[in-house]
Amino acid sequence: MQKFLIVGGNRLKGTIRASGSKNAALPVLAACILNASKNTIHEVPRLKDVAVMKDVLTYLGAKVVCEGSTFIVDSSNIQSVEISEDLMRRMRASNLVLGSMLGRFGRVKISYPGGCQIGSRPMNLHFKGMQAMGAVIKEKYGYISAQAEKLTGADIHLDLPSVGATENLMMAAVLACGITTIRNAAKEPEMVDLQNFLNKMGARVKGAGTDTIKIEGVRRSDLKPAVHTIIPDRIEAGTHLVAAAITGGEVTVTNVIPEHMEPLLAKMREAGIRILAGDDFVRVQGSDRIRAVDIKTMPYPGFPTDMQPQMMALLSLAEGTSIITETVFENRFKHVGELRRMGADIKVEGQSAIVKGVKKLSGAYLEATDLRAGAALVLASLAAENGTILEDVAHIDRGYERLETKYNALGARIVRVHD
Ligand code: UD1
Repeated sequence: MQKFLIVGGNRLKGTIRASGSKNAALPVLAACILNASKNTIHEVPRLKDVAVMKDVLTYLGAKVVCEGSTFIVDSSNIQSVEISEDLMRRMRASNLVLGSMLGRFGRVKISYPGGCQIGSRPMNLHFKGMQAMGAVIKEKYGYISAQAEKLTGADIHLDLPSVGATENLMMAAVLACGITTIRNAAKEPEMVDLQNFLNKMGARVKGAGTDTIKIEGVRRSDLKPAVHTIIPDRIEAGTHLVAAAITGGEVTVTNVIPEHMEPLLAKMREAGIRILAGDDFVRVQGSDRIRAVDIKTMPYPGFPTDMQPQMMALLSLAEGTSIITETVFENRFKHVGELRRMGADIKVEGQSAIVKGVKKLSGAYLEATDLRAGAALVLASLAAENGTILEDVAHIDRGYERLETKYNALGARIVRVHD
């Protein structure tokens, strides 16, 4: 196990570049299966989750060559339609190959990705949509198999705008016969990125970014190789902005699309943080006073659940009481106990955390229970008095590329220690 030793107290200052989006790269890499061609994807972040997706594609028979942040994925030789349990367990998002495999081969078998730290995360909406398109889904002994002689376009209404279900169904529909309409679709910027990539390979998808996405099925022979650049990571960029704010620093984050970050920026402004947004950068100009604000996580364009733990760290030092309500995942307050160890005054009541701002946090012996909770604890530690030992930082590596190196370049003091 690896841990971080963090000495807090320094204001972060300087410029930091956000990488390509993890949550856009994962479905785009999975979509490479569809066209049985050589695709070139730029700005792929070199993260643990991306490495797992690369292993999944390689396991299936694709050839993946990585040159820095450019991935060349040749899916012409995929033979297998089954993914090992070991790979599925390494990352939940491996389930994103379900739609593209079903679309291209008419069958796929994966082991159930199971629950995770932040909630049970069922796949019923993915299955219902695929069944509406004519697939037969069987769940047995922890395995899911999906099979379809022929996928047919369907009118699908999602009970809730699931990101993964929307992506899987978009991919499954590319080679289906006829038109698929996904209603109450997720509207995250990552949907638009996936649509753009699919269209570059010859698919006919429109409406991504709104709640209705229409996919007109095409023939295999219509699909061709594609070149694509992944959009910037709005969650990584947001984490850096909060790191600047919590340390009272001045940080410019480059390679961002400020519009994608508006739900976060609006709340940060409301909290009294000075923000300057340009065309492709956002700058936080430190503020010594942070005001309490209420936050409710919602699907995009609501406040992102993936920024909730980091904002809780920040608001634990605000003037006044903030109420943070988590509506997307049922178990996403694991960081509360850890923040309390640092002296934060937080009480959980059902879906809400009541955060009474304190004057200071103090370093402690902590555990990163999941990716964003881990990031939140790094931020809290940067602002704390005394040192922190943060265990199990492998979770943080799933979504941030050498976070300690990036923050040390801005003046932080973080050392990675291997057991
Ligand atoms: C994606 C993101 C994750 C983010 C989340 C919500 C990736 C790789 N991950 O996860 O970082 O936190 O969106 O923005 O992009 N649900 C069902 N049935 C389903 C599917 C989902 O009930 O079939 C529920 C989930 O349990 C959860 C909610 O819907 O409560 C949202 O989940 P979903 O949008 O599917 O998240 P993911 O795609 O797993």
